Amino acid sequence: MAKLGIGVLGVGEMGKRHAGNLRRLVPEARLIAVADMAAARAKQVADELEIEHSFASLEGMLQHKDIDSVLIATPDKFHAQAVRLAAAAGKNILCEKPLATNLADAHAALEAVKRAGVRLQVGFMRRYDPAYASAKKRIEAGEIGRPLIFKSVGRDKDEPPMAAYQSNVNGMVFYNNTIHDFDLARWLMNDEVVEVQSYTTVAIRPEVAKYGDVVASVVNLKFAHGGIGNVESYVQALYGYDVRTEVVGSKGSLFVGTLHQTPVTLLTAKGSSEILADHFLVRFADAYLAEVRDFVRMVLSGGAPKVTGEDGLKALEIAVAAENSHLQANPCAISQVAVVR
Ligand SMILES: NC(=O)c1ccc[n+]([C@@H]2O[C@H](COP(=O)([O-])OP(=O)(O)OC[C@H]3O[C@@H](n4cnc5c(N)ncnc54)[C@H](O)[C@@H]3O)[C@@H](O)[C@H]2O)c1
Repeated sequence: MAKLGIGVLGVGEMGKRHAGNLRRLVPEARLIAVADMAAARAKQVADELEIEHSFASLEGMLQHKDIDSVLIATPDKFHAQAVRLAAAAGKNILCEKPLATNLADAHAALEAVKRAGVRLQVGFMRRYDPAYASAKKRIEAGEIGRPLIFKSVGRDKDEPPMAAYQSNVNGMVFYNNTIHDFDLARWLMNDEVVEVQSYTTVAIRPEVAKYGDVVASVVNLKFAHGGIGNVESYVQALYGYDVRTEVVGSKGSLFVGTLHQTPVTLLTAKGSSEILADHFLVRFADAYLAEVRDFVRMVLSGGAPKVTGEDGLKALEIAVAAENSHLQANPCAISQVAVVR
């Protein structure tokens, strides 16, 4: 069987899961190496996964002749530069979200990919989640009529350590968290977002503001063809990892998440009457695996990515507009931030 030689860059929480999936659960992939700027971490993960090669940098890993493709799972701010390097070396790329943390870097990355003629898939893995994938199919089959209202909730469980803000290596909530919902909004509504208005708060943790971040946000969305919607993000729900989406159409509504008859449900860190997921690696375990499988099969078959660099760019434009709206306390049209090329 033809196998795709892959290297994984950044083997923290997410990259290690991807590397493990590629090593053990994707028979068409051959995990050749892992790389991490923490060389000891790279070596430890290579040992655990029983692979021979570990590197302290992307440049080192790119020298390995059997590597055809690179999966990028470094912190957000390093994605675009890694995409450029990997593309220039002729490698196909699966890049974790966000594609970049600003639009200039995103465009430079996409230009490098185009110039090199390689394939780029962006890690919006919710599209591979069985529930979201089924919702998309049913919307396309017309079961809810014309989609009109998009609502999504994304809550992480644990309060992020202050060091996570101080390190400044990830984008603020819109780039790191809400971007998943911005992608879902475009994908499930089959439309483009044209304007956003953000409301944000740091009321329960004011010190986060000095790092340019927020604790919770609501972003209202206006779509090109008459749709409306909103997305709530909250980084420290404590009771669980809670991701839910609803699309309401002219003939009905589709939920991804739960809907019970219980009139009141209390959710606290001490417990709840619901069965809760407590981490994204649990809730989206199937999606992460299906995502890397699809990438490997797509490259081996010479196909085109289902989640493209353009999708990465479009979601990023919404995040930039949402940050603008947050900073200026005004609605922001996507056309105000999007760079016309
Ligand atoms: N799709 C999802 O659901 C999902 C979930 C979690 C994280 N992510 C994304 O995955 C990425 C990694 O997140 P994480 O939670 O694994 O972070 P992490 O901090 O656990 O791991 C990051 C790793 O990258 C290494 N690193 C940092 N800078 C590097 C560089 N320049 N070159 C090489 N290695 C470098 C660090 O040493 C660390 O081991 C982030 O972009 C995050 O947004 C996506």
